[in-house]
Amino acid sequence: MRRLLIGTALLCVVTGSFGTIVLRAAAQDASPDGEAGQLMANRCGICHSTDLVTQQKLDRPRWTATVDKMISWGATLSPEERDKLVDYLVAQYRPDLPVGATDGAK
Ligand code: HEC
Repeated sequence: MRRLLIGTALLCVVTGSFGTIVLRAAAQDASPDGEAGQLMANRCGICHSTDLVTQQKLDRPRWTATVDKMISWGATLSPEERDKLVDYLVAQYRPDLPVGATDGAK
């Protein structure tokens, strides 16, 4: 059921103006990167598409602040999970990676 919801959310985004971003996210999501990738899919994909996460390119302080903001809004992550996820996000979606797929969408 949750899968269905996420799929529906993804579809909504795809039909919007996020085509290129979704392509890039799909390529990266092909390797879910174990536990942290699952955390993102399961805990962050509840309220919005994970594309909203994967289209960002942030440094550690900004990822930390973003994850903490999402926790304050209701994302459920233990302190250990939070640290793991921040490490993952910093490694995957940091500003110096030459992906150039965000198109200033955010
Ligand atoms: C309780 C619901 C909820 C959960 C769970 C959630 N978010 Fe969000 N998130 C939001 C809302 C609401 C917005 C604002 C959406 C918008 O701006 O259109 C948002 C926006 C964002 C943004 C866009 C930039 C910004 O700061 O607004 C990012 C990045 C983000 N979330 C990352 C995450 C991550 C990473 C997780 C998992 C730890 C997560 N979200 C879990 C509700 C949630």
